Amino acid sequence: MSKIELNNLRQIYTIRNSQTRKPEEFVALEEFSLSINEGEFISIVGPSGCGKSTFLDIVSGLSKPKSGTIRIDGKLVTGPALDRGFIMQGYALFPWRTVTRNVAYGLEVKHVPKKERLEICKQYIDLVGLNGFEDRYPNELSGGMRQRVAIARSLAYDPQVLLMDEPFAAVDAQTRETLQDELLRIWEKTKKTIIFITHSIDEAVLLADRVVVMTPRPGKIKKVLDINLPRPRTAAEMRVSFDYSWVTHNIWELLQNEFDDGSVKTPLSVATPDVANEILPETQI
Ligand SMILES: Nc1ncnc2c1ncn2[C@@H]1O[C@H](COP(=O)(O)OP(=O)(O)OP(=O)(O)O)[C@@H](O)[C@H]1O
Ligand SMILES: [Mg+2]
Repeated sequence: MSKIELNNLRQIYTIRNSQTRKPEEFVALEEFSLSINEGEFISIVGPSGCGKSTFLDIVSGLSKPKSGTIRIDGKLVTGPALDRGFIMQGYALFPWRTVTRNVAYGLEVKHVPKKERLEICKQYIDLVGLNGFEDRYPNELSGGMRQRVAIARSLAYDPQVLLMDEPFAAVDAQTRETLQDELLRIWEKTKKTIIFITHSIDEAVLLADRVVVMTPRPGKIKKVLDINLPRPRTAAEMRVSFDYSWVTHNIWELLQNEFDDGSVKTPLSVATPDVANEILPETQI
């Protein structure tokens, strides 16, 4: 049984027609079906407005789909729960709580004793490089630092599933690479199931077992690609890997050409059987 089963999700928003000013329906997500295995790392890429956050909000339980179902461990999702940690686009911290108390939030909800709570908080604050800032409030932090608090907060209470909506978008390139490597390390250690949205194809490929490529109007899955690059991976290693460059290049092409036949060229060394079927042209051998 898969960990997360998404079945034919569809989401509709009511918007105002720009000419008539009358309300009308806008299909933000359609025919979105995917089975995600326990411990799998899924990245989602697609142009702005293609429905990535809409999709993740549904998985988090914060919004309900117009139709379709989502099951985690076979159970229907009907609302948010502590089995899922959600790092939203934007920071969504509690402004009245310090860094430590923000990170502690999920642990408080889980009734973890205070001493243990503080130890866990310290561990994750160190992990995201915020030691020395424990007593600051969110408005006293930079955007990237706030995002790191949000990451520490959702890791600290140890949810089985991590839902991450562009979590590294606001941090500088160096911190981003550190966080990517840390996330991979944590994932390899804990084998959490992760759904990770990003605008960066490089990041998507570096992290994922599978990359879901979405297209807009309406938001749909265009293709799901297996990323069979060897693990463990680090950002630095991937930067100089030919196979990695090849895969990212082909996802670029896939996104650039929304109306192509969806075919992807991938070297045999990283191809999965279904991808390999598409790359037999002799140019690759
Ligand atoms: N509450 C809402 N009411 C009406 N339309 C909405 C609402 N939320 C999102 N949309 C529309 O739905 C579409 C998908 O939005 P969504 O935020 O899911 O995109 P996204 O892929 O996450 O984009 P980005 O990469 O810019 O974050 C967009 O066209 C957006 O304008
Ligand atoms: Mg979004």
